[in-house]
Amino acid sequence: MNPMKLPLWTPEALAAATGGALLGRWRSVGGIVNDTRELKSCDLFLALAGEARDGHDFVGAALKGGAAGALVSRIPEGLPEGAPLLLVPEVMPALEALGRAGRARASGMTALAVTGSVGKTSVKDALATIFAAQGATHASEKSFNNHWGAPITLARTPAATRWGVYEAGMNHAGELGPISRLIRPHLAVVTTVEAAHLEHFGGLEAIAEAKAEIFEGLEPGGAAILNRDNPWFDLLAERARAAGARAVGFGTHRAAEARLISVRLGPDHVEAEAEIQGLRLSWRVGAPGRHQALNSLAAITAAALAGADPGKAAAALARWSPGAGRGERQRVEFGPEGSEGGFLLIDESYNANPASARAALDVLSSAPLGPGGRRLAFFGDMLELGPEGPGLHAALAKEAAHAADLVYTAGPLMRNLHEALPPERRGGWFADSTALAQAAGAAVRAGDAAMVKGSKGSRMGPVVRALQARGAASPG
Ligand SMILES: Nc1ncnc2c1ncn2[C@@H]1O[C@H](COP(=O)(O)OP(=O)(O)OP(=O)(O)O)[C@@H](O)[C@H]1O
Ligand SMILES: [Mg+2]
Repeated sequence: MNPMKLPLWTPEALAAATGGALLGRWRSVGGIVNDTRELKSCDLFLALAGEARDGHDFVGAALKGGAAGALVSRIPEGLPEGAPLLLVPEVMPALEALGRAGRARASGMTALAVTGSVGKTSVKDALATIFAAQGATHASEKSFNNHWGAPITLARTPAATRWGVYEAGMNHAGELGPISRLIRPHLAVVTTVEAAHLEHFGGLEAIAEAKAEIFEGLEPGGAAILNRDNPWFDLLAERARAAGARAVGFGTHRAAEARLISVRLGPDHVEAEAEIQGLRLSWRVGAPGRHQALNSLAAITAAALAGADPGKAAAALARWSPGAGRGERQRVEFGPEGSEGGFLLIDESYNANPASARAALDVLSSAPLGPGGRRLAFFGDMLELGPEGPGLHAALAKEAAHAADLVYTAGPLMRNLHEALPPERRGGWFADSTALAQAAGAAVRAGDAAMVKGSKGSRMGPVVRALQARGAASPG
């Protein structure tokens, strides 16, 4: 912990927030982690129970690693005398209480919750970039968006924060409401409603209703920033109004209050122009794709409603680019100094559902090629789509055939796309990503652009690494 900075939590404040008992010798807390691999000196370690492991088994290692103390529901064996522990009946409710206390003490903060089927992290990170240029900002790490990620982020929020940006996610109905009530946002952004985690829902309308739970925790006089182009806009706007909030639409729709006027796709960026509540703005984002123009429009709109300067917000986006696996680009050179040519690798391997797969194909269709180059798509299964999965895979055929010269697929669901493709577009179907990875290296030629996309569970990392292994990859 930086000694010049105020501690995040004093031990006494932790005890007051959680109702727990302080045991042993404590120092002030500078951060909060639930994973010892992320531990820094003076962090509070949360002994949460995961699916496979119990955090109590790691308390000893955390304290040895410099933790200021640990939040526990029992005293683990083998700890040294005087080990600093905060003992509570159950860790999860104590973490929620800590999150609530973190939210409550940040009394000067405007809180924003960001949910949606895709684009949450992109919009959250765009907002964090915008706000950081204008005041004290705190935002969720990575995709910390669930029943533990949200309270951890709230508990990590410094008291003097001006803007707090919280990603909120769900796989099932009933999950978002409690998260929203913890966050108590002034503004709720719903990026879009699409077929993601469809297997846990009866259909898209049920997904839209579950997203509307984000309004349950809205502060009085709040606003909802909603995708005006999405078929579920009216439903969401109605639910927002019923919760006492104002609905503000963003998109290309004529009636959108934040209206996208034009998008110019560059090879590694996108330029957008919009009218946001009467103000004309243009900006540039360091990531290609129409979807990033819409994500950044949502972010500027929300930032303006949160009291930030919209002109500065637009300017700040030039410094933002989406994270790993979300359209990252690399030049892979076959030989030293590029004498034998190389290809462009577009890494969209972070995750996939039909909406983000289409967005990735759109990006591929405008990727720059070298002489004789071709556009190659490498797809792994899109998971959690339920009985509609096979049809949703086959339905990508038209866009895939348009965007790519050759489409390589892996996994049982992707077989449906393979078979729906025109024969001249079929690169090959493989049983799994390991088999596809072996073929991928041999498939690329000088001048090509290769895009890799698949759900986390389809493990497309090996395909990305096999492509990178064709040369000495360098950013570019
Ligand atoms: N508005 C959008 N429309 C379609 N695809 C998008 C959109 N925004 C982002 N994507 C794509 O979706 C994928 C995930 O993006 P991002 O991480 O921002 O979403 P997320 O909602 O946070 O995902 P998760 O639920 O896994 O946390 C990326 O491949 C990204 O390029
Ligand atoms: Mg995310």
